[in-house]
Amino acid sequence: MSPQAKKRSAGRKKAGRKKQELSFASKTIHAGQHADPTTGAVMQPIYQVSTYKQPGLDAGWKFDYARTINPTRSALEANLAALEGGRAAHCFASGMSAIHAVLALLKSGDHVVVSENVYGGTYRLFEGLLRQFGLDFSWVDTSDLDQLQGAIKDNTRMVYVETPTNPTLTLTDIKAVAKLVDGRRIRLVVDNTFMSPFFQRPIELGADIVVHSTTKYLNGHSDSVGGTVITTRKADSDRIGWLQNSVGAILSPMDSFLVLRGIKTLALRMERHDKNARKIAKWLDSKRKIKKVIYPGLPDHPQHRLAKRQMSGFGGMISFDLGSMAKAKKFLGRVKLCAMAESLGGVESLISHPASMTHGSVPPSERARIGVTDGLVRISCGIEEADDLIADLEQALRGV
Ligand SMILES: Cc1ncc(COP(=O)(O)O)c(C=O)c1O
Repeated sequence: MSPQAKKRSAGRKKAGRKKQELSFASKTIHAGQHADPTTGAVMQPIYQVSTYKQPGLDAGWKFDYARTINPTRSALEANLAALEGGRAAHCFASGMSAIHAVLALLKSGDHVVVSENVYGGTYRLFEGLLRQFGLDFSWVDTSDLDQLQGAIKDNTRMVYVETPTNPTLTLTDIKAVAKLVDGRRIRLVVDNTFMSPFFQRPIELGADIVVHSTTKYLNGHSDSVGGTVITTRKADSDRIGWLQNSVGAILSPMDSFLVLRGIKTLALRMERHDKNARKIAKWLDSKRKIKKVIYPGLPDHPQHRLAKRQMSGFGGMISFDLGSMAKAKKFLGRVKLCAMAESLGGVESLISHPASMTHGSVPPSERARIGVTDGLVRISCGIEEADDLIADLEQALRGV
């Protein structure tokens, strides 16, 4: 192990030890949180302000301008860093701006190996914008370590993994990939949006950077768009902070408050999302009209064993194939309790058609290659009563 890697590993172990001081659920509520110094308010107030009165020119006042620093955002960032076990977190206006900041750590001529079926917007950003600035991307099945290793070049500086992927729920072995890139000047980045730190903590498994669309499970109430980057190395934390301030795609005070408030129930919500999804996946799997059900919690998921090892639950996302676009359309037109909508991770169940919605920007040939078929439907199981959701899906399926 290189000296740098040893240092990082020691840092992670130390962070891991610190994590054991409070349980995860307690951390969601208390980590990085302090009563407001002015009033003693137990919840972090929304500092809806653009600037701060400074006591004097040489006073070294911490708060200068709200793009640079805002107490509501700082409280959320401290909380997220603790939940993922990182050195620092920085919050952005969306998941996409958070991902953009991570890629801005690279320079022209650098090469990135990416999971082939990441969120469609990530594909659009990488191929539609960042390639134009001299970054090179190889899209591989990162669940296959040989393929991943084969794609690494001399100028590879990042491996970017989404696990489980959206929407085919393919897993990548984070620990194995971390081992593969160790000591090679390659950052391992994991988009942990689908699992949330409640079920999966990539930094503990060796990742260098974690990103999230906070829009999803972290906020959990479908009322805010945001993103975060959690870093482990000082140089990366400093640079991401610099980018946050220089580019200015910051999370607003109101959104910071909403995400922080959402996180306080993360443990409860995730348990329920998972419980509902297990029941619904089993039910879907018993239906003849459904060609295939993809859920990491089903024993026939090709990476069920890895899922059990790497995650402490299977999450709330299920994909299933109805066989054709026409059938998927019919089904989606009939659901009543589940809302047909983009996004995921909210308290309400959301159902979508990846080929024409989240992955509409991915060329059809590429979609076919990665398994985003025309009949594929994705459900984000909410926290309603599972039997009510099953009744809705049952009546929708009757019309197909
Ligand atoms: C896995 C994943 N990462 C990133 C994003 C982008 O996040 P946002 O919509 O907050 O920009 C999404 C959005 O759906 C996503 O599903």
